[in-house]
Amino acid sequence: MGQIRRKQESDRLGRGRDLAAAGLRVDAYTLGDRREAMIADVRRGLSGFPKTLPPKYLYDEVGAQLFDEICDQPEYYPTRTEDALLVEIAGDLIDRYQPEQLVELGSGASRKTRTLLDALVGSANDPSYVPVDVAEEMLRGSANALALAYPALQVHGIVGDYEHHLRHLPPSQDRMVAFLGSTIGNFSDIQARQFLRAVRGQLAEGDAFLIGFDLVKATEVLNAAYNDAAGVTARFNLNVLNVINRELDADFDVAAFEHEAFFNERESQIEMHLRPTRRQEVRIEGADLSVNFAAGESVRTEISRKFTRSRAETLLRSGGFAPDRWYEPENGYFGLALALAGPVV
Ligand code: AVJ
Repeated sequence: MGQIRRKQESDRLGRGRDLAAAGLRVDAYTLGDRREAMIADVRRGLSGFPKTLPPKYLYDEVGAQLFDEICDQPEYYPTRTEDALLVEIAGDLIDRYQPEQLVELGSGASRKTRTLLDALVGSANDPSYVPVDVAEEMLRGSANALALAYPALQVHGIVGDYEHHLRHLPPSQDRMVAFLGSTIGNFSDIQARQFLRAVRGQLAEGDAFLIGFDLVKATEVLNAAYNDAAGVTARFNLNVLNVINRELDADFDVAAFEHEAFFNERESQIEMHLRPTRRQEVRIEGADLSVNFAAGESVRTEISRKFTRSRAETLLRSGGFAPDRWYEPENGYFGLALALAGPVV
């Protein structure tokens, strides 16, 4: 099923490539040695206690596909809640802030962007869209599709790291930067502040920043969202072991690990873990590392923090942004903050 969908997608994109040339430009920046970075991350994460792995390694091609499937699970409310909220507020947002340029950090397949783009092209004189992502194929594909779908739109993709390459943003007096999906929740408080400051440092004072925050809610709702009945989140989580087996020539026995996800109330975060069902020693040849798992010792593969409005706004302020508006649906499941880039300090 996933295979077929991907095939159709690439056919559609392939045909469009020449047609879209007019409104499309993609600049690719070097991303550094990602293999060396992965080796360092895996060594650091699996040598310490508790054992951890950075969530970004969940998203190889298979993982990105599985995350897409997670978004369609009935228990996983964040994506559809944020999408519905965006539909509701897009007109108001564009009216109030009048951007000409929409920048999307971690644009992925640019699924939610269309709502904002519809409002943007209806309002701006010279609208442009700047997707920024490290996943080059996906970025080129969606940039191309959007350039085709919106003839009046300039699409200028940036393949890069949003903590380093935003200084290459095409200049604009009226910019709105979007960071959707509550991806900020994957960062610890310190990492989130560093991330926001890095972003802020590359923007102009007064630039509008639209950012999604998943909010604290009943524990059962949270736990269900990360333990869907169809087992897609479990496959998504376990896949990170396939990634390490493949990329770093490791011998994780994937069948001997179980998915675990729970809301840690004290830290106000969902934690995803992989828990071995028996003691084992794993060899990670590419990192020249052997790892022992005691019985019951898990690896934490992701945190997904759940915010309150006031915590979200405090975080934004500490990152150099001034919260300007807050949007949330009636059930209070998800918040979108619009903040303005403050003066550089
Ligand atoms: C893409 C980081 C927002 O934290 O909810 C979904 C990733 N992990 N199910 C999230 C995820 C497990 C997701 N984010």
